[in-house]
Amino acid sequence: MKFEVSDSSVAQVVILPVFVEDLPKLSNDGKTVRKDRLLPHVGARHGVTWINAPAEDEPDLLILGMGEEAKFKPYMMQEAAGNASRALQKEQRSSAVVTFEALGSRKILSGCMPAVIAAWVEGSLLGTYSFHKYKSSVAEQAETTIIFKSTAGAAWKEAIRVGQIRAEGTMWARDLTNEPPNGLRPRDLAERTAERFAGTKAQVAIYEEPDLEHLGFAGLTAVGRGSIHPPVFIEVRYCTDETKPLIALIGKGVTFDTGGISLKRDNDISDMRMDMAGAAAVLGALDILVRSGAEANVAVLVPSAENSPSDRALLPGEVIRYANGVTVQVGNTDSEGRLILADALIYAHRIGAKQAIDLATLTYSVVGALGSKVAAVLGDDELADALQTSGEPSGERLWQMPLVDEYEAYMHSDYADACNISSVGEAGVITSSLFLRKFVHPSLKWTHIDMNGPKESASCTGEFAVGATGFGARMLAHYVTNLS
Ligand code: BES
Ligand code: ZN
Ligand code: ZN
Repeated sequence: MKFEVSDSSVAQVVILPVFVEDLPKLSNDGKTVRKDRLLPHVGARHGVTWINAPAEDEPDLLILGMGEEAKFKPYMMQEAAGNASRALQKEQRSSAVVTFEALGSRKILSGCMPAVIAAWVEGSLLGTYSFHKYKSSVAEQAETTIIFKSTAGAAWKEAIRVGQIRAEGTMWARDLTNEPPNGLRPRDLAERTAERFAGTKAQVAIYEEPDLEHLGFAGLTAVGRGSIHPPVFIEVRYCTDETKPLIALIGKGVTFDTGGISLKRDNDISDMRMDMAGAAAVLGALDILVRSGAEANVAVLVPSAENSPSDRALLPGEVIRYANGVTVQVGNTDSEGRLILADALIYAHRIGAKQAIDLATLTYSVVGALGSKVAAVLGDDELADALQTSGEPSGERLWQMPLVDEYEAYMHSDYADACNISSVGEAGVITSSLFLRKFVHPSLKWTHIDMNGPKESASCTGEFAVGATGFGARMLAHYVTNLS
């Protein structure tokens, strides 16, 4: 897909995003659109309506519904763009011009056309994303050129670049997350990170045994012990402005979670290939920061392991001694995410981070609580608020849950300072976060994001393809970029 800014609007298709309220006005025209063909669904959110041209040399019209104006949120522009570009590809159209004429006088557009253009580019690319690396043949796709009609060349071209960078970082996160378990072991994740950032201002360090032990990463070595594919700890520094506080972005990188000796018993656990979606999110965010040349001071930390049962695997009942002195008895080896994130949280303080944000597919229960569209955020209120705001432009939604001190007792262990699972079958999102808090130095501002719900999309709508969503990458990049 290509994007152009041009003052000419010659194309096979004219794309027209509309609100429900615009329909009567459009219908009055009578020439281009007949009222009876427009109502009632055309303006509804996700509406995609083709209107064929009356003459051969005229363009067809593609009307994109954006719902009611009062309910409009900026990310819906991405959604409409995704729907439009998928429709163009399906119909094998090679050129289309986008016109915002119907929305023209609206407040939502005034003064923010570059943001609208960036959103359109982002949504177009994300909406036509597909993961077909393992298909022997893929249907040939005609290249589509999207034209934005304007004489304001430079600013809109820059907006196109911004949209492309954000989409590419997100698509890389999707690619990593979609990989099957045999396509991405911990070492592969490290290699792909090193390749992606080679020749940039980001510095990649990869630690394996015996370094992991020297660095005191007790959780990671314990969890990774059962697999023949060894664990790694990935650290990527991107420090272009050291006057800014160091931010640690931590991602759970379990390349496959069988549960370990506490083996999962579900019928289909193939989704556990996505148990590194947190890692993909922080790496994707860094990709956006690096390629947009952001002024930032960031350390991306990814503890990565395959959680597998074997004769040398971590056993339920074992006690782990962490670098901060806390000891943990393993009640269940399927609660492995918190065990490896603990190392990264301790390390974040050790390298001087002032803030730490961790993203992880940590619990089943978060999906029960918030569903597949919203992630949970827990920890520092101010940071949680700022992240919530940072996710809004890309439609990445967070909802804050409380850290209820009283539930900490649920993780009591007779042998160690704590157990890695709760003895009470409630509030799994909160207890897992309370566990992580034990490894957060009091001077470190911290939030945890459980993104198990929105890591994946079950349908091909808006900017989503079936499979990984790349959730978190744009939100984190936005947060870091806007930090003073
Ligand atoms: N990786 C899982 C969480 C998960 C569930 C990810 C479904 C993707 C889809 C995590 O490691 C896990 O197993 N959590 C358990 C913890 C329990 C054993 C205390 C859970 O949430 O049930
Ligand atoms: Zn698990
Ligand atoms: Zn897991």
